[in-house]
Amino acid sequence: MSFDFDHEIDRKPTHSFKWDKYKGQDILPMWVADTEFSPPQVVLDAIIERTQHGPLGYTLPYESLNKTTVKWIKDQHGWDIKPEWLVWNPGVVPAFNIACKAFCEEGDRILVQTPNYPPMLKAPELNKCELVRVPSLLADGRYYLDLDALAKQAADPKTKLFLFCNPMNPCGSVLTEQELQKIADICAANNVVICSDEIHCDLVLNENTPHIPMPTIKGAEDNSFSLMAASKTFNIAGLGVSFSVIPNSKLRNAFRNAAMGIVPWAQVLGLVATEAAFAQGHAWHSALIEYLLSNQAYLYNEINALKGLSMVKADATFLAWIDCSGLGLDDVQAFWENAGIGPSPGRDFGEPQFARINFGCPRSHLEEAITRLKKAILALG
Ligand SMILES: Cc1ncc(COP(=O)(O)O)c(C=O)c1O
Repeated sequence: MSFDFDHEIDRKPTHSFKWDKYKGQDILPMWVADTEFSPPQVVLDAIIERTQHGPLGYTLPYESLNKTTVKWIKDQHGWDIKPEWLVWNPGVVPAFNIACKAFCEEGDRILVQTPNYPPMLKAPELNKCELVRVPSLLADGRYYLDLDALAKQAADPKTKLFLFCNPMNPCGSVLTEQELQKIADICAANNVVICSDEIHCDLVLNENTPHIPMPTIKGAEDNSFSLMAASKTFNIAGLGVSFSVIPNSKLRNAFRNAAMGIVPWAQVLGLVATEAAFAQGHAWHSALIEYLLSNQAYLYNEINALKGLSMVKADATFLAWIDCSGLGLDDVQAFWENAGIGPSPGRDFGEPQFARINFGCPRSHLEEAITRLKKAILALG
């Protein structure tokens, strides 16, 4: 079966968040983390079939959806979960904010690995807690978590929660079993709950670094849970559905209670799309990974050949975290935008000398971006 990821789709008329940011400007948007690809036809067909039926009222997550999700997680990650561990949410951002509300009180400390997805950095303050940064470090072309810093910060009795992102966004590393075991041990010893955002877990590009869900780690089943979704992989983020996998019933009840009355149910079309993707999206998913690998290799070679720029080859995600410090610029984002490319600003993730480029796009977009970038770097002299 072949799928045409090279096909260019004009998203400008659709009020796309990504494309609207630079409306009327000749800037190629490569920021927010949705891809330029159409979901698999089986997903679109399922949505069409559901809408043709008519009424689109409140819809509870249902047995076949749960069964399909259980099977997807088993097939992709070798994790045997029970359907009752699944809590459906309208997104991962609401889910990690629910976690703050469920497991912390005002004034508590929440650990967040940095750099990180901006809404995760904002979650502690939104929930009247203190943000405590646990840095990621770079060694031998790979980012990893500073476990000494984690141990030091977790030991403070006011620390209640670790908001953790694996695969990492924006750094792209998939943590190893040994690393996860250390994180689990540190958090268990200090009664710190681990909220593991694994939204990018089906986008592993490096076959040597399989994704390992946090609750499968020895000693972590009862104080951690995974946040997952089909949204990034199958480009259905606009349908607002994710799921939290919470093995421990006490944590699960606390999480459900914290969401009650505030967070809406997951949306019907998102549930339908998720089920179709997980049931019938395997071939498309494999082809997507191949395409992303080839885009990543292209970008990696081009970026690292440019003076002043460097990127590591991430284990996962369609995001490239580009170190621009060698250019010696005061405003990295302005440089990229003046070049006609719109990355996610590194400063939003906590690193002003970086830019995050989304390579979940047709190769032609990437080639155009590289042409523009080379011109801008030449102009720097
Ligand atoms: C790590 C991470 N978590 C959560 C989200 C957003 O999740 P949702 O759209 O389901 O709220 C993103 C989107 O970029 C992300 O990268």
